[in-house]
Amino acid sequence: MRVAFFSTKKYDQDFFEQTNESFGHELRFFETSLNKHTASLAEGFEAVCVFVNDALDAKTISKLADFDIKLIALRCAGFNNVDLEAAAQNKIKVVRVPSYSPQAVAEHAVALILTLNRKTHKAYNRVRENNFSLEKLTGFNIYGKSVGVIGTGIIGACFAKIMLGFGCEVFAFDVKPNDELKDRGVHYVELEQLLQEADIISLHCPLNEQTHHLMDRNAFEQMKSGAMLINTGRGALIDTTAVVEALKQEKLGYLGIDVYEQESGLFFNDRSETINNDDDFLRLMSFPNVLITGHQGFFTKEALEQIAEVSLKNLSDFEAGNELENEVKA
Ligand code: NAI
Repeated sequence: MRVAFFSTKKYDQDFFEQTNESFGHELRFFETSLNKHTASLAEGFEAVCVFVNDALDAKTISKLADFDIKLIALRCAGFNNVDLEAAAQNKIKVVRVPSYSPQAVAEHAVALILTLNRKTHKAYNRVRENNFSLEKLTGFNIYGKSVGVIGTGIIGACFAKIMLGFGCEVFAFDVKPNDELKDRGVHYVELEQLLQEADIISLHCPLNEQTHHLMDRNAFEQMKSGAMLINTGRGALIDTTAVVEALKQEKLGYLGIDVYEQESGLFFNDRSETINNDDDFLRLMSFPNVLITGHQGFFTKEALEQIAEVSLKNLSDFEAGNELENEVKA
């Protein structure tokens, strides 16, 4: 198939070109993101391959339909950036990569917890400056703490198992509980109880109408004072204004985020010589107990190989008229 890739970096091109040797699709890589202004680049192609911050709203999709695009292939798990109703109306199918190394994201959530707790990012800088003082580096034992997992799908389940391995008591909230986790000793509770009991809360549910700003002022009020909140899901699971307030009031003890509500246009690019006008983001970065990474939870060699493999197989299945096992429907 002739496929236009958007929001691509060199690593995307490297992994896709290598994997495509056994698929034989015609791939064209654009650095620009896909939106209603750039949709015309898709002219002459049969499919577009997009990532987390491409804006597949109704206007973009209608333009893609004008250029006879038949398939939107997401090279990610989340699909909150696609207007599925508009895609269906325009007879464009949508496929995704539902699971690619879920351990990559779960392990990144653990990295955020350990860094925030034991302050290894600060210790690294101190030691490089010959400062061996331990002042203000005190952490806490993860062992024995209560961990709350919101969303125990593929990634949340991996994360829960790692935390069980640390010797934590694991609470979970999900609209569809996972029996295997229950057998391993995870306690499914209502959201309120999870918020009240957990020392560490990690978000692994998708972003949708029900979960938008799930962590709002009310949620922060219910949490234990000094709790740690980790978000490797999607930025808008957290109400940024409310989290800034909870940090200012010293209600929230730690915040580790790999995703940010307004990350589109900010993340995945070198902006070191650009003025950042996002005051909320700058406020977040001013707190000593906040750690931000730029949506790199998925970024392991194993995950990139799987993303390329599954995305290209999705394209081949569509081309061959096979059943689309990774189709996303409205
Ligand atoms: P999944 O679909 O396997 O699991 C999501 C779980 O959330 C399911 O068990 C579902 O029942 C639950 N859920 C749905 N609505 C809920 C609600 N209102 N309240 C509580 N639970 C709810 O998805 P997976 O693969 O585990 O991924 C989770 C999310 O992680 C994705 O939607 C995506 O946003 C994010 N992600 C982030 C990455 C990163 O690089 N930081 C990479 C990959 C995914």
